[in-house]
Amino acid sequence: MTRPADEDGYELWLRYRRVADPELLERYRRQFGSIVLLGAAARGGEASTRTLAAAVAELQAGLAGLLGRTITLSEDPSQAGALVIGRTLTPGFDEFRLPRAVLSNEAVSSNEAVLSKEAVAAKDGTAAEAGAPADPLDQLGRDGFALVTSTAGAARTALVGASDLGILYGAFQLLRLLQTGSDTSQLRLASSPRLGLRILNHWDNLDRTVERGYAGFSLWDWQKLPDYLEPRYTDYARACASVGINGSVLTNVNANALVLTDPFIDKVGALAQVFRPYGIRVYLTARFSSPIELDGLATADPRNPDVRDWWRRRVDGIYRRIPDFGGFVVKANSEGQPGPQNYGRSHAEGANLLADALAEHGGVLMWRAFVYDHEVPVDRAKQAYDEFKPLDGSFRRNVVVQVKNGPIDFQPREPHHPLFGAMPKTPLLLELQLTQEYLGCATHLAYLAPMFKECLDSDTFAAGPGSSVAKVIDGSLHGHELTGMCAVTNIGSDRNWCGHPFGAANWYAFGRLCWDPALSSREIAEEWLRMTFSSDAGLLASAAQIMLDSREAVVDYMTPLGLHHQMAVGHHYGPGPWVSEGRPDWTSVYYHRADEQGIGFDRTPAGSNAVGQYFEPLRSQYSQLEQCPESLLLWFHHVAWDHRLRSGRTLWEELCHRYQRGVDAVRGFQASWARVSAVVDEARFRQVSDFLRIQEKEARWWRDACVLYFQSCSRRPLPAGYEPAEKSLAELRTLRHYYVPGIHNPFLAQTPRALSGTRSETRK
Ligand code: GCU
Repeated sequence: MTRPADEDGYELWLRYRRVADPELLERYRRQFGSIVLLGAAARGGEASTRTLAAAVAELQAGLAGLLGRTITLSEDPSQAGALVIGRTLTPGFDEFRLPRAVLSNEAVSSNEAVLSKEAVAAKDGTAAEAGAPADPLDQLGRDGFALVTSTAGAARTALVGASDLGILYGAFQLLRLLQTGSDTSQLRLASSPRLGLRILNHWDNLDRTVERGYAGFSLWDWQKLPDYLEPRYTDYARACASVGINGSVLTNVNANALVLTDPFIDKVGALAQVFRPYGIRVYLTARFSSPIELDGLATADPRNPDVRDWWRRRVDGIYRRIPDFGGFVVKANSEGQPGPQNYGRSHAEGANLLADALAEHGGVLMWRAFVYDHEVPVDRAKQAYDEFKPLDGSFRRNVVVQVKNGPIDFQPREPHHPLFGAMPKTPLLLELQLTQEYLGCATHLAYLAPMFKECLDSDTFAAGPGSSVAKVIDGSLHGHELTGMCAVTNIGSDRNWCGHPFGAANWYAFGRLCWDPALSSREIAEEWLRMTFSSDAGLLASAAQIMLDSREAVVDYMTPLGLHHQMAVGHHYGPGPWVSEGRPDWTSVYYHRADEQGIGFDRTPAGSNAVGQYFEPLRSQYSQLEQCPESLLLWFHHVAWDHRLRSGRTLWEELCHRYQRGVDAVRGFQASWARVSAVVDEARFRQVSDFLRIQEKEARWWRDACVLYFQSCSRRPLPAGYEPAEKSLAELRTLRHYYVPGIHNPFLAQTPRALSGTRSETRK
């Protein structure tokens, strides 16, 4: 077998290479020969809307690549090989319906091997009306689609959408089935997204730097917008739509008011125009002090009528240019950002001010709960809950409170945020981070679906057992219509979009989990690998296992057993367990609290009592040393070095063991990756190999820095079998890492102190 030709990763998972298996290729060719638009979908033989045109173009390009043939538009739906496309109510789909006899016997006899999960999601209520007949064609919820093969002979397939966007999503699903070599001969599939808001957050500055961005500069070329539209914008929209993402927040949460001015709104409008056919709305971050900064108002107080009027007029102006503008994200009174508390007002008053301006246009206001005080709190992990829970019920209907997965800040492992389930009257949006700010940036391979699933599947016990975070955010637990999830992206101007060749798996996984949080990490990893590399069995076995084990490896070599926030100052890339200077809750010693007796943050009732923010039985479980999951032990407890863990090892021995295990895991990834060299193109193979070498080196850096530092507290010998460090602690402490991108933000330096209401240092 010849080695595949080099690729640069630009095409992501939309490569559409020819189907390798000759038998499968022949079957697909028989089944997909022409495209027929039915009813209102067609105008003069062409797609009638830009969204349908995008769907047809994608199908034609995709099928041409996969099948090696040109697929033409035809007007004959009865022809064998027709892919018939239309809206739900279009006449002509009767032949694709299940016969009544079948319907009465059985619910959806879905092609289990193909998409059982999607059918389950549909049955679960996202698509099906209660009591509705179980024909996929009747099961389409918002943005949903059905893919069914004809029950009346001749290999024909129907792609039916509840809307044009549903059809576009169905087109991508069909292509995914072919890309992953699925059996499409008897399709009976209905699928609708589980979450309403499926949003990417770009932390992009107007000078094109990206806060915590490790894959080049911002995609948005503000200088050339609105006149020049890079083709890349369309490819970004295609990739997002292919996994159901329907919103893009273009700018950094540490916002620059300038983006709200007309010249910028024209630029934003040009992007919106590109994204519109793909169902992606644009959103912006709104700086709370904008009325002062842009128009010289004396205040930004939410109770001031001039301020209210200012926001209303500004928002009206935006909607005049961008009628489907999505809304705003606001970071207020956090890390130096201005907010309502500068005027003695609550977060709810601040949020409602902007929500009122957006309401009449159908806009949504996402108010972030990522806050912590400039007066260093007893426990930073508690602050968001303490500030937001009392506000439950006081937000407008178009407000969602955006909550990070854990209570600190995107650490390799955190317990779920205690606000999930604790604000029953307020829709909550789960915020994840794809850019690996605390997981090795873009040089470490860390597939994050297991981390996202860990949060989604966490039981909050808010309404008894079975109250998972997924049920909080999909609205089913407390009956909310505004539902969703968002993620800080890892996308930049790098040719392969996300820096690491495996980084795009996190973008892909995020979209897939928004669509269906019940999908497993393995299913998503295998889909992505098949589409991004190949369906070679050896590759799938090795690479999927690397992916599935990768996040736990990072936890092991950076912050095992519930440790957190151990990074060096500024870049968040390398280790710094000794960091103790400056604001206490930006140091490592604040979080690990290591001393001669032991290590860990006591958050039990005897300590900060952060456990009190969780529902029972979690509260008791986390409080008791013996019952607390070991993976979160040092998050909740200060534990004696000689305390014995379930492994029989003492805490000190276990800590060393896990750090070493993390390094060994990366070495295992190197060995597994070496085994796939023949089936992966040289260019991508080499980049992954080289990055794994960096990861191994840096895993050792983390292990040695942490273990040697903690040893200076524990004063215990290194356990037998532990690999000795190459450098002394003193040497490790002097290492400086100057080259981490993603922290430059010139505008922050200009934050007027009077507005920030915080001490002079605004950022860590
Ligand atoms: C982290 C990150 C910041 C970011 C902040 C946020 O603290 O380091 O760069 O601004 O999260 O989420 O607002």
